[in-house]
Amino acid sequence: MPPMEEDGYKLWLRYAPPGDEIKNYRKTLRQIRVSGTSATAGVLREELGRAMATLLGTSVPSNDQVTQDGTLVVGTPANSTLIRDLNWEMDLSAIGDQGFIIRSVAIENHPVTVIAANTDIGTLYGTFHFLRLLQTGQPINRLDITERPALQLRLMNHWDNPDGTIERGYAGRSLWQWDELPDKLSPRYADYARACASIGINGAVINNVNADPRMLATDHLRKVAALAAVWRPYGVRMYLCANFAAPVHLGGLATADPLDKNVVDWWKAKADEIYGLIPDFGGFLVKANSEGQPGPKTYGRTHADGANLLADALAPHQGNIIWRAFVYDEDVDPDRAKRAYIEFTKLDGQFRSNVAIQVKNGAIDFQPREPFHPLFGAMKQTPVFAEIQATQEYLGQAKHLVYLGTLWQEFLESDTCAKGAGSTVSKVLAGEMQPGQLTGMVSVTNPGLDTNWCGHHFSQANWYAFGRLAWNPQLPAEKIAEEWTRMTFTNAAQTVRVIRGMMMGSRETYVNYTMPLGLHHMIGGNHYAPQPWNDRAPRPDWTAVYYHKASAEGIGYDRTKQGDRAVEQYFPPICKMFDDLKRCPEMYLLWFHRCAWDYRMKSGNLLWDELCLKYGEGVKQAAELQRIWQSLAGKIDARRHQEVADRLAIQVADATKWREQILAYFGGFSKRPVPKPS
Ligand code: GCU
Repeated sequence: MPPMEEDGYKLWLRYAPPGDEIKNYRKTLRQIRVSGTSATAGVLREELGRAMATLLGTSVPSNDQVTQDGTLVVGTPANSTLIRDLNWEMDLSAIGDQGFIIRSVAIENHPVTVIAANTDIGTLYGTFHFLRLLQTGQPINRLDITERPALQLRLMNHWDNPDGTIERGYAGRSLWQWDELPDKLSPRYADYARACASIGINGAVINNVNADPRMLATDHLRKVAALAAVWRPYGVRMYLCANFAAPVHLGGLATADPLDKNVVDWWKAKADEIYGLIPDFGGFLVKANSEGQPGPKTYGRTHADGANLLADALAPHQGNIIWRAFVYDEDVDPDRAKRAYIEFTKLDGQFRSNVAIQVKNGAIDFQPREPFHPLFGAMKQTPVFAEIQATQEYLGQAKHLVYLGTLWQEFLESDTCAKGAGSTVSKVLAGEMQPGQLTGMVSVTNPGLDTNWCGHHFSQANWYAFGRLAWNPQLPAEKIAEEWTRMTFTNAAQTVRVIRGMMMGSRETYVNYTMPLGLHHMIGGNHYAPQPWNDRAPRPDWTAVYYHKASAEGIGYDRTKQGDRAVEQYFPPICKMFDDLKRCPEMYLLWFHRCAWDYRMKSGNLLWDELCLKYGEGVKQAAELQRIWQSLAGKIDARRHQEVADRLAIQVADATKWREQILAYFGGFSKRPVPKPS
């Protein structure tokens, strides 16, 4: 029988029967015993009930009084004497308030499975982890798992506007129905929070970084509070992007100068108002003095003055300020890639303790490939969060199949050498270089009102991968791809292998047919189609020619010590490697070096020929993705299979267009023929 049609709404929480292990699961899971009376415990009970019924094909009774063989015991020492009597104090003290322990043990001579944590949210995370084991067909009779998240704040950032549009959103309009809130609550709000909780996401910034000041108006805050109340049982805290000039726009003040007493008072009163409505409000994310947004520099003050103003307003309520380092004023340096580092390293030490600086993974802007941003490891006293982008603004925009787990793994594994070799970005983020600091990771995220949430069925994997990596930045992208595939599509081993393979190669494929060898920003307008000729924009660093600098002599941006010295922003071993033409990884070649068209690559090919081959390879790989997906017809339900196939057709056509247009354009400079593919 072909699989039943699915529309993708259920994401990775389909709870489809897990295959052969089901026999063992039915033996190991005979009764559920969940302690606790909180709303979170309620959510957990409901989740387990729903999951067991569909996973095992039979309902598993709840009995909160009796333990027998095959009981699943869930609780905290505070709400369960059973858990208390296990005497796991030592182990529990090591997992904080969000971690969990899952163990197969005997209680009163009954073999049981225990999910224990210090808080109800911890037990909810443990439950979702346990359900993931079932969904992916893992054995569950000898479990001994201890987990705690590596990062404290694991946040979604929706670039959603109050009018329902989404900046760089490719999956329909905004999930938040402002016209209906606060009275009417769409069921999607809870479904969303549940999906977030299932992968450990514990907060969401619900509006665009280009923030509309009206988001902070009282009538709007009431709507926000209603949304926050739906999410609370799932441990998803509310955050907002604040417009720095809100005191002017909303408060009618003459200035938003951070040192002005009226401005200080306005923000304090606004913070009190917000916390009156949303007691567990997480804080503000701020884009200031960037791309036309107002900020402290508008008033002759620094980013630290601006961040501290808001930090002081939120501090009495334990709120945090996340201040974006995506700033690139032209007067700082001619090279956009250098500007944020120059501005922010100067301010290190001047920020309040509840301020973190949020840095995009690379120094330009979510390109298909960038070397890691030099600010990682460079701030000694200020917490740095990573900002990554799940919505595929520059990576095919929910039309192309591009799994970003590999991109993020490459970034997280990058060695900053900040404190000697091995100081990877993931360690910097986890606070291993500065113990005790605030830690976090934020994803510019992709769900919208489309039935399947993310536009492309495979784009769901990028939401999923973000959550898993924010929980554990060292998780291999391949493991995440496998988990997701099993939960989203099937547990059939061969099909899983095929899909996992498609996902793992997909980002490199995209790089190959768009911007290989360190090329970047060869787009215009909507950031989708090739526009290497783009030389007109409101600012030079929004053009393509600013970055590739192609001429008859060669191509690439010289950021070496002989060039504009951007490499010097990296720690010495990394600086030396990027600076040295022979040692610089070729995937970053034209990011750091300007090379002649006949520069000899490691493969022995001339640069021009290599470039042509890369584009050719990309087109072939895209066609291969399409071919492989066709081979899965009948193995995946017809609707999702067809919807993915339709997008793959677009992807193959686009890949061809990229190759043709880029090579025709650069060929005009290199004056060399395109070599035949081998
Ligand atoms: C990119 C994106 C903008 C966005 C900006 C940001 O430039 O194209 O839409 O506002 O990033 O991150 O602030």
